[in-house]
Amino acid sequence: MGFPLHRPRRLRQSDVWRRMVRETRLTTDAFIYPLFIVPGKQVRHAVESMPGVFQLSVDEIAKEAKRVADLGIPAVLLFAAPDHKDAKGSAATDPNGLVPQAIAAIKAVAPQLLVWTDVCLCGATDHGHCGHVTKDGVIENDSSIETLAQVSLTYARAGADAVAPSDMMDGRVLAIRQLLDRNGFSNTPVISYAAKYASSFYGPFREAAESAPAFGDRRSYQMDPANGREALREVLLDLEEGADMVMVKPAGPYLDVIRQVRDAVHVPVVAYQVSGEYSLIKAAAARGWIDERAAAFETLTGIRRAGADLIITYFAPDMAEWLRN
Ligand code: PBG
Repeated sequence: MGFPLHRPRRLRQSDVWRRMVRETRLTTDAFIYPLFIVPGKQVRHAVESMPGVFQLSVDEIAKEAKRVADLGIPAVLLFAAPDHKDAKGSAATDPNGLVPQAIAAIKAVAPQLLVWTDVCLCGATDHGHCGHVTKDGVIENDSSIETLAQVSLTYARAGADAVAPSDMMDGRVLAIRQLLDRNGFSNTPVISYAAKYASSFYGPFREAAESAPAFGDRRSYQMDPANGREALREVLLDLEEGADMVMVKPAGPYLDVIRQVRDAVHVPVVAYQVSGEYSLIKAAAARGWIDERAAAFETLTGIRRAGADLIITYFAPDMAEWLRN
């Protein structure tokens, strides 16, 4: 029997009622903030397509990390845009490269802040792809995962608290896990971008990370947006290979995938609210078409409700401040 016996509005009639019966809450503990490292000193270069996001030199990264740690955010995710780019992405395995320098600088000012490092080749290769490319333009899997493991080892040696491969090559989690273990880093978690889709929502990020592919696209390694079952296959394979957490990316257009993954696994599920999801809200808010804070809360709450335990988001510092007040 329904109305008039049942009136769901009874439990919505005031803020205190709504607070009591709220099913999903956001906490700063669940946020990871991405940072973009560039060469130089005192560089604070605005990423035009992502208002509020900057490319930062190592000294500026340290300041930003301190601010973020003081806000109570538990972790940052590092991306680098080195000057030197070549076919093999050798800047990514340089022990004195931007990421190792940034890790040292962050640890000096905010030792308790967890430093996650994105592991990929696209920011360091001249062709902008996430793996090695043959002369026929094919993205080669098995040689790429060896390099990706070397990148991971470089970051672990530099003091990274976790490595997060975002390349979508097959078998890279196992290659990384084995190389880390053989070199004394059995305690360094691998957080895999397990279900990463070939998405139009990465556009603004590619300006920040200077990592757009020079030819072709990423559809031979990133997933087809139409596929849900395949996401579970990717996730289960990465767990067999030793992943400690699995990620779904982007987040907003893939809430069903987040839910399916949450129900299928026993590790923390991370969702990445990507650059395009952020920029859409920023752009509409700048025109007065949407309430930025309300839209940030709503999208992030939706991602949590879908089952994400942790969320990588460019809104992290603002959210931390909004959640305080
Ligand atoms: C690199 C990488 C990308 C993102 C994270 N790691 C871009 C891509 O795959 O082209 C996207 C993040 C974002 O859009 O915020 N492989």
